[in-house]
Amino acid sequence: MEPLNAAFVVHDRLHESDPAAFAKVAPEIRGIAGGGESKVPRSLMDQLPALEIVSIMGVGYDGVDVPAALERHVPVTHTPGVLTDEVADLAIGLMLSVARRIPQADQYVRTGRWAKDGAMPLTRKVSGARLGIVGLGRIGQAIASRAEAFGMSIAYTARSAKPGLSYNFYPTAQALAAQVDFLVVITPGGAGTRHLINADVLKALGPKGYLINVARGSVVDEAALIDALQKGVIAGAGLDVFENEPHVPEALWAMGNVVLTPHIASGTWETRQAMADLAVANLRAHFAGQPLLSPVPECR
Ligand code: NAP
Ligand code: 8YV
Repeated sequence: MEPLNAAFVVHDRLHESDPAAFAKVAPEIRGIAGGGESKVPRSLMDQLPALEIVSIMGVGYDGVDVPAALERHVPVTHTPGVLTDEVADLAIGLMLSVARRIPQADQYVRTGRWAKDGAMPLTRKVSGARLGIVGLGRIGQAIASRAEAFGMSIAYTARSAKPGLSYNFYPTAQALAAQVDFLVVITPGGAGTRHLINADVLKALGPKGYLINVARGSVVDEAALIDALQKGVIAGAGLDVFENEPHVPEALWAMGNVVLTPHIASGTWETRQAMADLAVANLRAHFAGQPLLSPVPECR
């Protein structure tokens, strides 16, 4: 917020907090600054006749109606690359947490069960297991390179095979799920990937398989996932994203075979600073008449 406030007149989420006050300033608003979870629908852009740019502090921009922006010749920018390592780190962290039951082990010590009940039940080995990655882009590849250090065998699905990479390609998430122990989802959100992970994919993953979702909640059919976890169709899940954030179904809170984090994959001081710097740099470049640093693919 500091560099934004220094360079611009900022109406911080006024459209949500005070729509009447927002309606008065809306005709003068020239830029939107948002995060990866922000909603920038056509109806919002309709209120902003002077809009020139949408700058998203996040790599995912599924909340932005890009066709509506393009119709208005409004470019959309995002922050790819600068958060890749951080999100890959959390994906590995969730995989270890759910398989080795690290949150439960912490509770086992804190609640005195170690002294009272003896050794904690055994858990599941991650090193050497089979990893499937749904979406082998920037972050998917960073997850794969970390998993290589764990001696995991790696396979993936994406819209197209990556001929330069040695990992096995499967044309569908279901075919991939049937061949792996851990399935990590790291595609964009939006209509193209909605419920890509459905009941059939979970069934293929099987009762010893784990699902990790660090992409968007919309990519996984959450009702089907809850059903699969309750019935033992899969072994467990590590989830950073949910269909209706910040609301997480209470059914998940109660489960011992899931690890839940509140959309924190890029949430460190270092990475959020790098994301903020790039998001502000895009705004500055636009208003200085300079080329944009990181427009979304549709605006290049
Ligand atoms: P990226 O480089 O664009 O990679 C996206 C990958 O998804 C590509 O490999 C793409 O396939 C694949 N893909 C797209 N549509 C697909 C489909 N229908 N079926 C299968 N694969 C599909 O993006 P990135 O930088 O890795 O980021 C990926 C996403 O992670 C973001 O869009 C965002 O939603 C999410 N994310 C979440 C957090 C968080 O806080 N949890 C943080 C950052 C990012 P092709 O390569 O064949 O095109
Ligand atoms: C952030 C994200 O939570 O980059 C993305 O797509 O979802 C996350 O990095 C978000 O952008 C912060 O606003």
